[in-house]
Amino acid sequence: LFAQPATFLLGVARLGQLPPAMVPEVAMAGRSNVGKSSLINALTGRNGLARTSNTPGRTQEINLFDLAGGRLTLVDLPGYGYAKAPKEVVERWTRAVFDYLRGRPNLMRVCLLIDARHGLKKVDEEVMDLLAKAAVPFQVVLTKADLVRGGDLSKLVRDLEGRLARTAAALPHPIVTSSRQQQGIDLLRAAIAKLARP
Ligand code: GTP
Ligand code: MG
Repeated sequence: LFAQPATFLLGVARLGQLPPAMVPEVAMAGRSNVGKSSLINALTGRNGLARTSNTPGRTQEINLFDLAGGRLTLVDLPGYGYAKAPKEVVERWTRAVFDYLRGRPNLMRVCLLIDARHGLKKVDEEVMDLLAKAAVPFQVVLTKADLVRGGDLSKLVRDLEGRLARTAAALPHPIVTSSRQQQGIDLLRAAIAKLARP
C-alpha cells in the first residue's frame, strides 16, 4: 500500500466539500501540535507532503491523501484544543473535526494521537467517548517517543491499556511512535494496510 508514492488529493474547510464516501479513510486525530502531519509524512515517506510546524494550529483544513491510486485515503485533520488562532476559528475547526469523526460513513479507523510527554487529556477523553458512541474503531498512537524516557513510556502504555480495556471501539494496545526516529512506523503501516481495498 505504501510502495507507490502517496499524493495530495484535496483540502476542505467544510464537510460538504468532501468527496463521495467511496474509498476507505483512516484519519489522524489529536490535539494541536501532537504530530499528526509529521506522522503522515513518516508513513508515506514523503517529507513535506503534509505541512508541519512548531506553531499549534498549522493544519487548518481537512486534508486528504491518496494511497495506491484509490485503495485508501489518509486524512490529516486540524488539531483540537489550544491553537494559535482566534477562539471562534478554533471552535469552528473543532466542530468540523468532531462532525467528521461522528458522521463519515467510510471512516474505517481513527488514529488517536497522544503526545507521549503529556498523556491523555480531557479533550482526548471526549473524543474517545464520541468515537465509542459512533462505533468508529480507534487506535491510540503515542507520538514523540524520542522525547520520553523508556520507563515513563512503559508506565504510560500500561496506564493507557487499562483505560482502553474499558472503552468500546478502542483497539487494546497503543502503538509507540517517533516520526523523527522512524520508530513504530512500520507497525502502523501494517495496521493501516489491512484496511485498504484489495
Ligand atoms: P497541527 O496541525 O497544528 O494540529 O499540528 P500537528 O499535530 O499536525 O503537528 P506537526 O506534525 O505539525 O508537528 C508539530 C511539531 O512537533 C513540529 O515542530 C514537529 O517537528 C514536531 N514533531 C512531530 N513529530 C515528532 C517526533 O516524533 N519527535 C519530535 N521530537 N518532534 C516531533
Ligand atoms: Mg497538522
